[in-house]
Amino acid sequence: MTSQPCGRSGRAWAIASLACAFTLLSPTLLAAQEADPALVAEGRTLYTGIALCFACHGVNGRGVPGAGVDLTDDEWLHDDGSFESLVQRILNGVGVQETRSGVIMLPRGGSMITDDQARAVAAYVLSLKSTEMRPRPET
Ligand code: HEC
Repeated sequence: MTSQPCGRSGRAWAIASLACAFTLLSPTLLAAQEADPALVAEGRTLYTGIALCFACHGVNGRGVPGAGVDLTDDEWLHDDGSFESLVQRILNGVGVQETRSGVIMLPRGGSMITDDQARAVAAYVLSLKSTEMRPRPET
């Protein structure tokens, strides 16, 4: 495909850029439904603490080779990336039948987090993904 809707010039520009803005914005808006700042903050504390996620996915979520995949990149290996599917993934882990990398993830990452805590972690993980729409902060 040669047409680049975000690069059009001329009369179509206004319409194209509106459409583009909407396309780029809508996943962020969808993610924002779950992005209650208090929940995300709680999720971050859990992620880097008792939920153990950081051990395999890295403190910044970008993954650890041979352990856990990048949670900030622009694709989901599993599920559709919705908040609910993410909660279920965290609760259930990634089994030996499903793993893409050959490494499995235990239910709840092997941690003792409650269902509510899993929801907070999911909100945080989703916030990592939606910030991918913007330049990554250097860490
Ligand atoms: C012991 C290592 C380990 C821990 C701890 C761990 N994970 Fe994982 N996780 C993995 C591996 C390995 C995969 C990818 C399996 C594969 O290759 O398909 C994965 C996959 C995922 C996925 C799916 C990613 C995708 O692209 O679809 C999510 C989401 C996820 N983990 C979130 C979490 C969260 C949140 C925690 C903390 C509660 C956590 N993980 C703890 C190893 C871990």
